[in-house]
Parts: sequence; C-alpha cells; structure tokens
Amino acid sequence: MLIPDGVRDRLKSFAEDVREGLGRSGQKTLPSKYFYDEIGSALFEVITLLPEYGLTRAEERILDEHSGALREWLAAHSVVIELGSGYGRKTRRVLEALPCGQPITYCPIEICPAALESCVSGLKDLRHVRVLGLEAEYLDGLNLALARRESRERALVLFLGSSIGNFDRERGEEFLRAIRMALKPGDAMLLGTDLEKPLSKLIPAYDDSQGVTAAFNRNVLARINRELDGDFDLSRFEHVALYNARERRIEMHLRSVEDQTATVEGVEIEFQRDETIWTESCHKYGPCEAADMAERCGFECRDLWVDEEWPFAESFLLAV
Ligand SMILES: C[S@@+](CC[C@H](N)C(=O)[O-])C[C@H]1O[C@@H](n2cnc3c(N)ncnc32)[C@H](O)[C@@H]1O
Repeated sequence: MLIPDGVRDRLKSFAEDVREGLGRSGQKTLPSKYFYDEIGSALFEVITLLPEYGLTRAEERILDEHSGALREWLAAHSVVIELGSGYGRKTRRVLEALPCGQPITYCPIEICPAALESCVSGLKDLRHVRVLGLEAEYLDGLNLALARRESRERALVLFLGSSIGNFDRERGEEFLRAIRMALKPGDAMLLGTDLEKPLSKLIPAYDDSQGVTAAFNRNVLARINRELDGDFDLSRFEHVALYNARERRIEMHLRSVEDQTATVEGVEIEFQRDETIWTESCHKYGPCEAADMAERCGFECRDLWVDEEWPFAESFLLAV
C-alpha cells in the first residue's frame, strides 16, 4: 500500500503520543485532538445537535443577533482564517454577514481531512468567498494562511466553539499570545468561550442521555485499533464526565471497568480497575475572562456579546 508522506508522519506522531500518554506511570492521557478522525468529526456534529449540548446553539444565536455589528467589523477584513473549522456550519453565518459583494478569502484550518473537505465543499455556493482549506495544526495553518495574504489585506481569525477551553488556562493564554505574534495591528479575532454555569446543565452537555458523547469519547480507542493495530475492547471502558471545581473545567475520562491489558503496535499497556485515561478538558470561563486574557496578549476587546440562555461569550478582539 502506498502511504503518502504526510499521512505517514501523522501516523508516526499519533503512535508517539499514544505511547507517551498511555505508557506513563501516573495519570494516563490522550490528546483530545485525536478524537477527530472521520467518525469522530461526524459524532461531534451530532453532539452539537443534542438537546443537552447548548454551546453551538448559543454561539449561533450570538452570531445571528449581532450580524449587523459583525458586518461592520468584517468590512475591513478580507481574509478570514478559522482555527479548527470542523464542518464549518457556524462559519456560514459569519461569511453571510459580509457586506454584499465584498470578495473574501476564507481559510479553514483543520487536522481532520474529512471535516475539512466537508467544510470546503459546503461553502461552495458563496460566490464572493474564495475557500482555501489547509490541512494543518492550528499555528502552522495560521502562519501558512497569513503568508499568502497581500500586505494590504487584514485578517480576521475565528476561534469558535470554545475550543480554547481544551488548553489549560496558562497554555490558553500562551496560545493567544502566539496568535497575536503572528498577526499585525489591525488584524482581529473572534473568540468564543463557554461560561461557567450550574452543573445540572454542564454535566449532561458532556454525558448525554443517548450516549453520543460516550461514543465520541470511546472513538479515540477505536481509532487506535484502526490506525495503530490496537486491540482495545471498547465495552471495557466507561465514559466519565466530571467537573473539576478547582480548575473550573469539565474533564472527560475513559475508566477501565476491570484489570486488563491492551496492545498497541505490539506493546502491552496495563490498566487497573477504575484507572482512567484523561481524554479531554473543557475549561469554563467568567464572562470577561477570555477578553482579559486576550488583552494581556496584545489584543483590545472591542465587543463582547453574551448569550443569556446558555451562558456563552463571543469576544471581538482587535490586534493593537
Ligand atoms: C470542538 S471542535 C469545534 C469545531 C467548530 N469550530 C465548532 O465551533 O463547532 C474542534 C475542531 O478543531 C479541530 N482541531 C482540534 N485540534 C486541532 C489542532 N491542533 N489543529 C487544527 N485543528 C484542530 C478538530 O478536528 C475539530 O474539527
């Protein structure tokens, strides 16, 4: 079988990260970015439609409600770069808010080829938008997209869906700083962050009654089986979503229901009963917290919109 270099490198990094995360003596971990293969991205799309998962609808309401203000901001930006676009369903709202006829280049940056393909083809009907998909990690993709723009063009970076919450607070701020360093004064960013809310709303959003989030979580093991010759028995790992009040974050784990051994690329990994693999963190914020973080990194918050039904904040940040 012919495996292109990019795919070979991706598989190599995946194998290294799995070996490192599952081979350690303390808390076993897997980076959440590995959820997103073709199946994981499709499952995530379903999650966004679940009654318990209010994040996506909240952000859509904000984008709809403030489309007038968005239009004014967007008039100055002819390059839109989205970090982790997924299928790009929400992005359509931003691109449709553009002043009529204003030509624009939209660069979705994604590590999941299937999601990227769907995003690019789904926006084909927007005539004023030239879509240039980049299969890349966030910052590599951002730098590639920025390098292609003409010097007079201003860029708007979209980082939606509270994906920043997957970083811990310190690394999230470092990430915002890295974005700011890549930008020029006059560029901007639209940053979506999910806010703290009662646990009666928060926990079901990550542990829904139909088990879709559980399937999404377990898919990372299924992906290891498919791509790295693993033999995980998915029925022997339980989906867990818990709130860590000190860190103000949801944590998703996969708990081993018994003592067991799994094999990945010929290497045995032991699990004790109740031991978990920590697969994702979703940090929750105060209403102005993300804007404050961004301001410490060289942005100025020009607009802050909050959805009251499902507390969620959208910050419009100008690079100064
Ligand atoms: C939580 S989903 C959010 C999708 C969409 N932005 C939304 O708001 O619904 C995160 C997306 O980012 C992508 N992603 C995760 N880590 C990434 C990384 N390091 N570089 C590029 N894309 C990444 C995933 O493949 C996934 O499509």
